[in-house]
Amino acid sequence: MTNKLFAVKPMKQLMEEVSDSSHGLKRTLTAFSLITLGIGAIIGAGLFVRTAAAAANNAGPSVTLGFIVAGIGCAFAGLCYAEFASMIPVAGSAYTYSYATMGELVAWIIGWDLVLEYALGAATVSIAWSEYLNKLLGYFDARIPYQWSHSPFEVSTLGEHGIMNIPALFIVFVLSVLLIRGARESALVNSIIVIAKVSIVILFIVFGWSFINPANHTPFIPEATTFVDSQGVPHNFGGIMGILGAAGVVFFAFIGFDAVSTAAQETKNPKTALPIGILGSLAICTVLYILFSYVLTGVASLNDFRTVGKEASVTFAIQTYMTGFGWLAKLVTVAILAGFSSVILVMLYGQSRVFYTMSRDGLVPKIFSELHTKFRTPYKSNLLFFLFVGVFACFVPQDIVGDMTSIGTLFAFVLVSAGVWIMRVKSPELKRGFKTPLVPLVPILGILVCGAMIFGLGWANWTRLFIWMALGFIVYFAYSVKHSKLRHDKD
Ligand code: ALA
Repeated sequence: MTNKLFAVKPMKQLMEEVSDSSHGLKRTLTAFSLITLGIGAIIGAGLFVRTAAAAANNAGPSVTLGFIVAGIGCAFAGLCYAEFASMIPVAGSAYTYSYATMGELVAWIIGWDLVLEYALGAATVSIAWSEYLNKLLGYFDARIPYQWSHSPFEVSTLGEHGIMNIPALFIVFVLSVLLIRGARESALVNSIIVIAKVSIVILFIVFGWSFINPANHTPFIPEATTFVDSQGVPHNFGGIMGILGAAGVVFFAFIGFDAVSTAAQETKNPKTALPIGILGSLAICTVLYILFSYVLTGVASLNDFRTVGKEASVTFAIQTYMTGFGWLAKLVTVAILAGFSSVILVMLYGQSRVFYTMSRDGLVPKIFSELHTKFRTPYKSNLLFFLFVGVFACFVPQDIVGDMTSIGTLFAFVLVSAGVWIMRVKSPELKRGFKTPLVPLVPILGILVCGAMIFGLGWANWTRLFIWMALGFIVYFAYSVKHSKLRHDKD
């Protein structure tokens, strides 16, 4: 039994499966295309929504420092991801890599954990989409009533209670249907969205700079206290713990750069292009994020982010404080809605792809890999995940799903960092297209910085992660060990 828990999927089998499905991927991507791919998946709700939440609940203006901490953690973990990806000569996720290197149990833990990253990440962005949709409707004097655009756990400043978030459910539905019909984001659409997203970020920084009110930045690091939010949840506010907590929250804004490493096999010169792609997209986003959060927290006040400016905070800040920039508010709203849709699509796609592979391995039921006869997509999986994501999008507040996404992804990063180090010791002979520099220092720093952010996210989030992983163990021992293809093939 113990041996089987650590059984690895043979590389030969992995290669056969891949050539079955993709007939060998072409190496066409350059470092520049990797950077575009990365930025397309990265900039989204983390920046345009979670920044204000982290300022309100955790750090005030020092959320800017939180972005620096999160960026550093991602850089370490990103270097480890790249080695992991380049070791296994197939496209895939951390699940695939760990199955071939660290064995079934670790692969299961990562695969199960990735549900938090992809499915709950999609739910978080869909809730953010709903906020900005209401802003857009506001330009036409329309509005979806509070109770139909919020979860039952939320109450507005006017005392209205949420019932369910219909727009969030709607966007998840539309994108799930597109996925079922075989839609993928084309490189062209991705480039247009990247240009739109980066442009609005830069425009906001440039034009917003002169509207910074120094009073909003004083004190830059608030004194450490406890802040209880409108749902009655206490947060460590201010001081070092506030910055770490904010880093954990805005870490969400960096999720997606791991997408770059999954393109390892389609890249020309992966040895140089991969680190440039990963670190380049991270570096560009980190600089933009630091400047953006500095301007946002300077234009609007902490009190705004806790009350009237809590939702669609960027549009709110422009409309309220940046006189003469109404056009920018409109542009930002439209670009954000398009940008969010593409992030949700990528996440829903990633989720169905991970479960498709896990299902082919027998670790989750067959239903997740049954293909539609006409569209050749795992439509049942898409539908089931529409229901799963939809429940969270409809009935759970964004703070909770957002932080669960962060903590789940951070946990996966810790495992990947540890994995690279373990594999260097266990199998030094394996060929690696790209080698993480300074092992074990970089993996250790990755574990420490990501671990510190997990610590900063607080006990409520640790408990949720623990419950999710405990559920995963139950499923694994009750179902997966009995159905695992690898185990049966060996018997
Ligand atoms: N990084 C992505 C976002 O912020 C997930 O929406």
